[in-house]
Amino acid sequence: MHPNKIAPMAVETPVNTRAIQELDAAHYLHPFTDSKALASQGSRVMVRGEGIYIWDSEGKRLLDGMSGLWCMNVGYGRKSIADAVYAQMQQLPFYNSFFQTTNVPAVQLAAKLVEISPPQFNHVFFTGSGSEGNDTIIRMVRRYWDLQGYKDRHVIISRHNAYHGSTMAGASLGGMSGMHEQGGMIAGIVHIGQPYYLEGGKDKTPEEFGLEAASWLEQKILEVGVDKVAAFIGEPVQGAGGVIVPPSTYWPEIQRICDKYGILLVADEVICGFGRLGHWFGSEYFGIKPDLMTFAKGVTSGYVPLGGVLVGDRVADVLIEKGGDFNHGFTYSGHPVACAAALENIRIIQEEKLVERVRDDTGPYLKQKFETLADHPLVGAADTCGFVAGINLVRKKAANVHDCVSFDAKLEVGMVCRSHMFNNGMIMRAVGDRMIIAPPLVMTHAEIDEMVALIRACLDATLTDITQRGWM
Ligand SMILES: Cc1ncc(COP(=O)(O)O)c(C=O)c1O
Repeated sequence: MHPNKIAPMAVETPVNTRAIQELDAAHYLHPFTDSKALASQGSRVMVRGEGIYIWDSEGKRLLDGMSGLWCMNVGYGRKSIADAVYAQMQQLPFYNSFFQTTNVPAVQLAAKLVEISPPQFNHVFFTGSGSEGNDTIIRMVRRYWDLQGYKDRHVIISRHNAYHGSTMAGASLGGMSGMHEQGGMIAGIVHIGQPYYLEGGKDKTPEEFGLEAASWLEQKILEVGVDKVAAFIGEPVQGAGGVIVPPSTYWPEIQRICDKYGILLVADEVICGFGRLGHWFGSEYFGIKPDLMTFAKGVTSGYVPLGGVLVGDRVADVLIEKGGDFNHGFTYSGHPVACAAALENIRIIQEEKLVERVRDDTGPYLKQKFETLADHPLVGAADTCGFVAGINLVRKKAANVHDCVSFDAKLEVGMVCRSHMFNNGMIMRAVGDRMIIAPPLVMTHAEIDEMVALIRACLDATLTDITQRGWM
């Protein structure tokens, strides 16, 4: 071994935090992270999970308000998923689906996904992640139009502040300028504004604003040219953009416009799927009928990586009848171990009625409790939708949410608040000055009470801290 290199080591129990942090800083480039800054602080080392909690290497327990990364729908510590994975690994750890071969869990999972999804879906394409799912979407919608002789119909319309993944195609579909700045964008993707009422709805009702935001799609279609537009893609509720729940008028109007011009409607269900909004898929919550749906995360509750695309009949019929070879796929498309994990995960969701619980019981309860945070002096607005929720931190409250006074963005109050959350045992994500959660769907009423009390205590700590800094 070269003398400059740090030797890998056996992991001790209890974990030697310092040693892991040093190795981490030496070798591990983290996603979406300033590696230099992280190296100087040291990462928090996560070692164990159970239910809605995780523990770090110092023995600190954290309530995971973000379900890992929007994915731990059934919670941590599910032995039956581990058993399903172990059994499949012993039986057949891997085989590909490329050369006229298949495997049992992949077929069973495809059939299961068809069973739980809306009636227009009868086919599934598997990938390893949500980003790969959205790459698949691009090739698939373009192929769909090509096969019917519409060679120019290639443009996909998405939205600013959307998140559709981190591969070049996923990031291009997404509307995150920070990502576009690093590496550019692939061609043929354009963006419209997001349906964020707090941002653009001043002097309008949410319903009026929803229609206005949807009208931007029609304007863009006409600007690009109807004969050039292939599809519109959106997350039913924008997740990484800050849990942006569109007004009720938005999605039905988007559907009407897509239908009017015959363009494909794609729902990115990577976060909203598998019960998060109290329906199997978020598009059902909003009453829309997409032609394609991307999924990942909740399909396995994150136990192992898996993603894919549910392909509606309109697209599948053309691809299958006219398509010949579809020149697309991944080594791990239909990975038997990942599919076995997904099957067990979905079995748990069904057995424990997690979708119905979020819709009828814990979702409404979370709403009732979480929205009480709106009375906190730092909170300008608090809202939920199923099992996602957000609060806007403001310097000065007002009766009309649009009249609240924001903090100077440079102060990064959201990050200050996030640190107080972490230090007090609560994981909540900051998107600018909006604090968001997407907790595991297994949460009980008592755990919701505990979480909301914890958030309030952390908001108090944030308020004290920033008052001392003279920011209020
Ligand atoms: C809506 C949405 N689409 C796609 C992705 C990308 O998924 P992955 O990170 O599995 O590639 C994400 C990830 O957060 C997402 O939230």
